[in-house]
Amino acid sequence: MPNLYSDNIIDEIREKCNIVEIISQYIPLKRAGRNYKAVCPFHHEKTPSFMVSPDKGIFHCFGCGAGGNVFNFIMKYEGLEFPQVLRMLAKKTGVKLPATSTFSKEQKTSGDLFQLNEMAASWFTNNLKKEIGQPAVGYLKKRAYQANTILKFRLGFAPDNNGLLNFMRARGVQDGLLEKAGLVIRRETGPYYDRFKQRIIFPIFDSRGRILAFGGRVLDNSMPKYMNSPETPIYNKGSHLYGLNFAKEEIKKQDFCIIVEGYIDLLTVHQSGIHNVVASLGTALTPHQIRLLKRFTHKVVVIFDADKAGEMASLRSLDLLIEEDVNVKVVSLPKGEDPDSYIRKSGKEEFWQKVVKSFDLFDYKLNLLSQSYDMDTTEGKVEIARHMLPTIHRVDNAIRKSAYVKRLAQEFSRGEKTLGEEWILTELRKVKRDFESYTKEEFTKVEIKAKRPAEEMLLRLSLEAEEMVVEIKRHLSLEDFQDLRIREAMRTVFRLHDKGELLNEAKLISCLASEDTACLISRICSLEKEFVNQHKSLIDCIGRIKADNLKERLNKLQRQIKVAQSWGHKDKIEVLVGEYNSLIKRRGKKT
Ligand code: GTP
Ligand code: MN
Repeated sequence: MPNLYSDNIIDEIREKCNIVEIISQYIPLKRAGRNYKAVCPFHHEKTPSFMVSPDKGIFHCFGCGAGGNVFNFIMKYEGLEFPQVLRMLAKKTGVKLPATSTFSKEQKTSGDLFQLNEMAASWFTNNLKKEIGQPAVGYLKKRAYQANTILKFRLGFAPDNNGLLNFMRARGVQDGLLEKAGLVIRRETGPYYDRFKQRIIFPIFDSRGRILAFGGRVLDNSMPKYMNSPETPIYNKGSHLYGLNFAKEEIKKQDFCIIVEGYIDLLTVHQSGIHNVVASLGTALTPHQIRLLKRFTHKVVVIFDADKAGEMASLRSLDLLIEEDVNVKVVSLPKGEDPDSYIRKSGKEEFWQKVVKSFDLFDYKLNLLSQSYDMDTTEGKVEIARHMLPTIHRVDNAIRKSAYVKRLAQEFSRGEKTLGEEWILTELRKVKRDFESYTKEEFTKVEIKAKRPAEEMLLRLSLEAEEMVVEIKRHLSLEDFQDLRIREAMRTVFRLHDKGELLNEAKLISCLASEDTACLISRICSLEKEFVNQHKSLIDCIGRIKADNLKERLNKLQRQIKVAQSWGHKDKIEVLVGEYNSLIKRRGKKT
C-alpha cells in the first residue's frame, strides 16, 4: 500500500478502529466464538464464509479469498483508494492528519500521472482551436456535437506529428513518464512516438472527474476504429464506467441508470438531455463496474445493438447483474441502430419511450430465445429452459423466483407436450448443483493457497513469536521463498523486525502493496490450527524449503547441461557439471 502518511499515523488510526464495529456498518455480522461471520459481500453465496477476527484486526472470506484489514475492507467495498479511506477513518477516530505529507514514490507517480493526463487533455482540446485540428472540428460538427458537449467532455484531437511528445519534452517531462502514462510508445529500443495519431480524443474520467486514460477514434473508416490507453498504474480496464462522473447525481435522482456501449452513444444520449447514462466501452460489464454503479442505484436499463449474436453474449453479463442484486431491464433497438443513430433518426422522445417501456430481462431473454428455438416442440422447450434456468436461479428474491418459474411453465403450456412447473423445478435444482461449483470457480480470483505449504507455515510462525523470525533469517534468505506474495510478506516481516517494531497481522497487511498478497495473508492468519511444537515445525519447514530449492536447482542445472551438450559447448558443460557435483556433495553432507 503506497503510504501518503507516516506509518505511525496509519498504525494509530488502524489500532483505534474496531474492525467489527466498522464492518457491521456495512453488513450484518454474527458472533461465532471469538470471531464474527457474515455472508460475503464480495461474491455470491448463501452460507456465510466471510469471517472477521477482532483480535487480529482482519477479515477473510474462505469462499472467494478476499481479505485484509479494515482499510482493505472499505477500499474494496466502497471502491475507494487508500488515502481516501485513511482520511475517512481519521475523521471517525479523531486522529489529526498532518497537513504536509511525505509522499512515497508510488503515490508520487500516480499523482504525476493524473497531472500529466490533465496536461495532455488540455493540449488535445487546444488542438481543436488550431489549423491542424480543423478536420476533427469538421468531424464533430458532422456528427452534430454542440460546443457545450465538446467542452464538457473535453473532447480533443491528436494530430499525426508527435506533437504531444514534443510538447511534453519542451516542458521537461521525461519520456519514461509519458510511456508510463501510456501516451507514447516505441518499438523495442527505437524512438518514442505518440500513441494517438490522427484521432478524436475522449478523456476517460474516474467517478470523481480525474482523467485516468484516453480513448481515440479515427476520423475515417480506417482500422482500428477506436484505440484506448493501455493499463497504467492509475488505469485499470473494466473498473470504470465512461461518463459516470457526469451522470452520478442524475442517477441518484432518477434511481436508475442507462447503460450504453460506446463513447459516441453516451455523448449523444447525454446531449439529448438524458443525463443518467454511462458507457461500458464495448466490453461485457465486469463485477467491478457493477459494484461501482451500485453506489448510486440498483436499477439499470441496458441498451443493446440489435444484432443477435451480440445479444446472447451480452445476456451473460446481465446474469451477473442479477446476481449482484441489480434490477435489469433491456431495450433492444431496431436492427442496425445504436442509441446514437436512433436518437438522430427518431428523436429524443422516441428514445425515452423505448427506455420507459424497456422489457424485464426475463421477458427479453425469453423473447429472444423463442426466436431461435421452437417453443412448440419438446426439444425447443428443453433448449429454452437450459438458457433460462441459470437466470432464474440467480434471482435471490423467492417470490420473484417462483413467479418466473410459473411464467416459464405458462409459456411452455403450448404445443403437444407440456413441461410443467414440476419439471422446471426439478431442472432448477440440477442447475443449482452445477451453479454452486461454477460460481466458486468464477469468483475465485485470488489464488488462495501459497505455492508451498511450508512457506505459508513459516509466515504464520513468524507472526506467533519473535524468536521465530530470528531463526528464519538465520537459515533462509528472501530468495528462498518461491511464492512472490509470501516473499513480499517476509520482506516486510524482516524489515519490521530489524526496526524493532511490533508485528501483528493487521499491521503486516497495511505494509503490503498488492491486494492479492493481503488476501493470502488474511487467509493464512485466519486459520485456526495452533502449532503443537513451534520450534519443531519451524525446523521442518526450513528443511523442506531448502530441500525443495536444492532439488529445483539441480533440475535446472540438468536441463542446462543437456542444452550445453546439444551445442557441444565443452567449457560450459564443465562449469555446469562442476556446480552440479558440488551441490550433490553438499546435499550428501547434510543428510
Ligand atoms: P461510431 O461508429 O462512431 O458511431 O461509434 P460506436 O461507439 O457506435 O462504435 P461501435 O458500436 O462500433 O463500438 C462501441 C464501442 O466499442 C466503442 O465506443 C468503443 O468503446 C468500443 N470499440 C469499438 N471498436 C473498437 C476498436 O476497434 N478497438 C477498441 N479498443 N474498442 C472498440
Ligand atoms: Mn455508432
